[in-house]
Amino acid sequence: MTSIKTVAVLGGSGNLGPALINELLSAGFSVTAVTRSNSDSTTPNFPANVPVKPVDYASVDALKAAFTGHDAVVSVVGAPGVPAQRVAIDAAVAAGVRRFIPSEFGIHTRRVRGTPIGRILEGKIGVVDYLEGVVEREGEKGRGFSWTGVSTGLFFDWGLDRTGLGVISLKDRTATVIDSGDEKWYASTLAQVGRAVAGILKHPDETANKYLATASFNLSQNELVALVEELTRSKFPVTRIKSADLQREGEVKLAAGDYSAFVDLLRVHNSADGAGNGLPEEESANGVIGVPYEDVRAAVESWLRREGAL
Ligand SMILES: NC(=O)c1ccc[n+]([C@@H]2O[C@H](COP(=O)([O-])OP(=O)(O)OC[C@H]3O[C@@H](n4cnc5c(N)ncnc54)[C@H](OP(=O)(O)O)[C@@H]3O)[C@@H](O)[C@H]2O)c1
Repeated sequence: MTSIKTVAVLGGSGNLGPALINELLSAGFSVTAVTRSNSDSTTPNFPANVPVKPVDYASVDALKAAFTGHDAVVSVVGAPGVPAQRVAIDAAVAAGVRRFIPSEFGIHTRRVRGTPIGRILEGKIGVVDYLEGVVEREGEKGRGFSWTGVSTGLFFDWGLDRTGLGVISLKDRTATVIDSGDEKWYASTLAQVGRAVAGILKHPDETANKYLATASFNLSQNELVALVEELTRSKFPVTRIKSADLQREGEVKLAAGDYSAFVDLLRVHNSADGAGNGLPEEESANGVIGVPYEDVRAAVESWLRREGAL
């Protein structure tokens, strides 16, 4: 496949978008931001060299016009926009786009179909199924459309800033740990997610029609607590909770249609003893896409500095 140079980003005005666009620009891609014509996002603040195209997301023709001339479309739409990606995929095919990256960027959704957390993620799972179907259909027509999905684990810096990842409370100087706290999970900083997407687009052949997983690092709750204690030179007394209790609470909420269940189920998915949802080296795409791991100590230190805790 010839190289990818021009990228349209859908939903770039949110939490992930700015860091992702920044990394795409740094990697030398030309970027266009596609936003909803009825967007209520307050502070898009796109860089001056990123043209902005407001578009009606319900219109294949309008999206096709916005995508024409782009080699790739990267979608970082938030949860309410997940279903709208099907129209965007049809438009991308019609516009001759060669790579579509759907809004995944979390847990490995190919592995949770039919589970309670998978029920919350049905929209995302359905979009990747849809992409597989489109490639099968378009492949027969000899068109060069392809996709890549990417699981990045937790957004590390974003999650620390908002909630201490549910583990560390800087305000109370305490920690909350599920089960033994030794289970490893994986996480990526927002900038690393952007570098991963750039890496995928720089390796179009190796990444075509694949669902990949990448990370800044693997980490356990206990390792996070130990790093915070070492860096702040203070003790963070630990409260322990059982994953079985959290899972039950999440499932009760889910049965009542309360999607805040996601946070409970996500914590169990990552941190319950025996969950097995870390990212071993042999399953990581970091090597294939040319993205080095990051230093977890430096990432925690930079969070503590942002919070004025150092
Ligand atoms: N791994 C993690 O820890 C983690 C954490 C957070 C998010 N994520 C994932 O990362 C991806 C991006 O999340 P985010 O938090 O950056 O998203 P977000 O900030 O909630 O939303 C991103 C953009 O999506 C667009 N959007 C909102 N509603 C829409 C709708 N109904 N239809 C179409 N577009 C709509 C908006 O852009 P415009 O107004 O400009 O159109 C918005 O600024 C998602 O897949 C999310 O699940 C992962």
